[in-house]
Amino acid sequence: MCGIVGYVGPKHPSDVVVDGLTALEYRGYDSAGLAVLVGKRIELLRTVGRVQGLRELVEKSDLSGSQSAIGHTRWATHGVPSVTNAHPHANTDQTIFVVHNGIIENYQEIKSRLQAKGYQFASETDTEVVPQLIDYYVKEGLALEPAFKAALKDLRGAYALLVISSVEPDTLLAAKLSSPLVLGIGDGEMIIASDPLALVEHTKKVVYLEDGQVIRVTKDTYHIENLAEEKPVRAKVELLTDIDGTTGKGNFPHFMLKEIYEAPNTLKLATAGRVHAHEGLVKLGGLENVAEQLRHIDRLVIVACGTSSYAGMVGEYFMEELAGLPTEVQLASEFVYRDEPLSRSTAVLAISQSGETADTISALKKVENYGCLRLGVVNAVGSTIARMTDAGVYCHAGPEQAVASTKAFIAQVTVLLLIALYLNNGKTEQYKPLLEELEALPDKAAAVLSQAKHIEAMARKYAMYRDFLFIGRRYAFPCALEGALKLKECSYIHAEGYAAGEMKHGPLAMIDPNFPTFALACDSPLLEKTLSNIQEIRARKGPVVAIATEGNKHIRKLADDVIYVPDTLEQLQPVLAAIVEQLFAYYVAVAKGLDMDRPRNLAKSVTVE
Ligand code: AGP
Repeated sequence: MCGIVGYVGPKHPSDVVVDGLTALEYRGYDSAGLAVLVGKRIELLRTVGRVQGLRELVEKSDLSGSQSAIGHTRWATHGVPSVTNAHPHANTDQTIFVVHNGIIENYQEIKSRLQAKGYQFASETDTEVVPQLIDYYVKEGLALEPAFKAALKDLRGAYALLVISSVEPDTLLAAKLSSPLVLGIGDGEMIIASDPLALVEHTKKVVYLEDGQVIRVTKDTYHIENLAEEKPVRAKVELLTDIDGTTGKGNFPHFMLKEIYEAPNTLKLATAGRVHAHEGLVKLGGLENVAEQLRHIDRLVIVACGTSSYAGMVGEYFMEELAGLPTEVQLASEFVYRDEPLSRSTAVLAISQSGETADTISALKKVENYGCLRLGVVNAVGSTIARMTDAGVYCHAGPEQAVASTKAFIAQVTVLLLIALYLNNGKTEQYKPLLEELEALPDKAAAVLSQAKHIEAMARKYAMYRDFLFIGRRYAFPCALEGALKLKECSYIHAEGYAAGEMKHGPLAMIDPNFPTFALACDSPLLEKTLSNIQEIRARKGPVVAIATEGNKHIRKLADDVIYVPDTLEQLQPVLAAIVEQLFAYYVAVAKGLDMDRPRNLAKSVTVE
């Protein structure tokens, strides 16, 4: 969702900020803006659409001699995408400018209070109350920083805020509550951003701000305070060793395709140094410090959203089958508001690619005082969720930029399997074969990718249907849900995922020649049952595309089209089937001329509830 970058230092601040915003483009946004301090005046540049538009505005403006700048990419929540609603927002005197991620929940109340005192508002946003409120406290006699703190104390909701003012030209002020913010410490320069990707090109030395902290930054200094106690905080400076700043598409036309093609490498990275098939060992360094506690866990609750929740559902089957651990997956947005009893022997496992999903963060916050062990399966190193959890296993999939999650799903499923095997500790007969198969999987993933042309042809054939059903059983059931999500977010086709066994309980009523079904029908003990479901669909003239295991000739007689995947163990079929589904969704979007990297209405990182 929204992105924030601020810079103070000797480089061209507007260039650093616009480059930073470009690195955050993948998060999804609809407008972009910049406030640049030039001498004693602040230049405001805002545009609807891409950061490239903002870059063009910068090129046309005279910003020479500028000292600092703050910028923002906005994903509309309060008010339509428009220049007026784009950030930065300012006080009426245009001396205090603010960018904001998150939502100010009590903005109406503050707005009315300020309006009663004569303040006028230009935008429909919640954010505009912040510069106006700071202005109010400045006019009450406070200096800029105390006025900022006083304003923060009036706010309810979630925020990462960055302030620039002509009142104190060399200073940036920032604050964080439930929305990420990281300070990059350079040599005679400082950069603050909502995501380390925006600053990694300039410095690897960072401080992750904590909730309730306020920071004042000049080009050479930074000072962090705890807002509640107004006491200085000794910051922990960390090194960004695992973050790759490469954000390009390489030779691929889209990030999504590039990321799908990274599947074999993703599998290698997720298992590297962790799987030792010859010795029959799974080593997970991230769980070592809680190994003892894990022995006493009798229930696992997985919390996640979207694709991560479907990976979690695959994980649920792993935990039950391989670790004998009662497990359930809950959508984080529902978990937060449920009143279920949770005991200390329950562990809560958050799965998140970005590590910044607001609902998943809230789910972890909810159990903060329950004494539950909090675990994470996270891709983004150093992200909020990675830092909130007691222990966890990184996915190591590298930055994922297309809105549609692809390689992250594959890494999440792999890591969840590793956790289940780690807990199983060699007790099940499947332990060794699974470890060996994990080593063979990258080549099998590459074999699926080599069928891209066939899948593309299939996608073109089905691209103009309005509805699609995805069905599967056991491990293929969450995969059916994921296939449907992928198709709907990339192609805007109505798609639903169902457990194949549920067909007769309702969905079969929808089937006719215009309603195709994607059947996940790889070899498994339940294959015959899935084949019966396919028969029932065909009997109602519903077109069927099947994913089947190489060598299954029989299925050709049942399905209209078949996409074969290499033979693998049932537990690992979701990985290969997901690659087929991802390619299918991608090529349907291509056939429909849609921007699958940034689908309408969606953002990569969903940082508001
Ligand atoms: C998947 O393609 C999505 N765009 C979305 O469902 C995503 O998986 C979800 O928002 C959760 O994100 P997270 O993994 O970063 O927490």
